[in-house]
Amino acid sequence: MGATGRVKNLDINIRNEEPKDYRRVEEVAREAFWNLYSPGCHEHFVIHKMREHDDFIKELTFVIEVDGQVEGGIFYTHSKIVSKDNTEYKTITFGPVFISPKFHRKGLGKKLITHSIEIEVAKEMGYRAILALGYPYHYKPYGFVGGKKYNISMPDGKFYKGLLVLPLYEGALDNISGYVVFSDVFDVTEEEVEEFDRSFPPKEKKYQASQDEYEAASSMLDE
Ligand SMILES: CC(C)(COP(=O)(O)OP(=O)(O)OC[C@H]1O[C@@H](n2cnc3c(N)ncnc32)[C@H](O)[C@@H]1OP(=O)(O)O)[C@@H](O)C(=O)NCCC(=O)NCCS
Repeated sequence: MGATGRVKNLDINIRNEEPKDYRRVEEVAREAFWNLYSPGCHEHFVIHKMREHDDFIKELTFVIEVDGQVEGGIFYTHSKIVSKDNTEYKTITFGPVFISPKFHRKGLGKKLITHSIEIEVAKEMGYRAILALGYPYHYKPYGFVGGKKYNISMPDGKFYKGLLVLPLYEGALDNISGYVVFSDVFDVTEEEVEEFDRSFPPKEKKYQASQDEYEAASSMLDE
């Protein structure tokens, strides 16, 4: 299921990722995340690993093309909310989501995220909500709210500003609270990332102020 259209004079096309896109998608992700949250980045490797992982949701994973060239992507995995009595509720999580830096703030990310949220697949699959981790300003435009509103915490029991929740239908999270569990696909070691990164052209790892901003935001509690 795809979509075509124009965004700020750019011809865009959104479609599911295919094997022919794999390397390009990893290159674009590497460009988008490089030095942003830490020196270098690991997201291109996470994507690489994700495609083979049990938690990967292929049907919800999309790329966005500009004039026929892939310039961004969004990846989905299974996640869950575990309540106090240990009941598990099925949710989904997007990330990494990324757009080539040269196309930032032109509405492409919005098109991609909105498309993935609005297609019926997620609802038909019986998921209750989308859980995301990141800057609230990235996800509030789509209706995400802080987990605290639903008494949904991180596994440590704390409510962080960076945990964002979007119920997929009316009442989906009524009387559901607990802590979230994300896929273990995100747990990667520095060594495996480095080894994978060596298959790309060398790029300088360095400090950027955005890393401090991210560090501070990640520990911010919703009080
Ligand atoms: C996050 C990202 C995917 C957004 O894509 P984009 O195409 O630049 O975003 P859009 O132009 O569609 O923005 C849609 C809305 O999101 C919000 N937004 C996006 N980037 C923002 C930023 N840097 N600061 C504040 N708000 C932002 C704004 O409300 C924006 O609407 P506006 O431009 O009308 O104000 C892109 O910036 C990116 O690839 N960043 C690097 C990777 C990353 O951090 N991914 C997210 C974590 S997994």
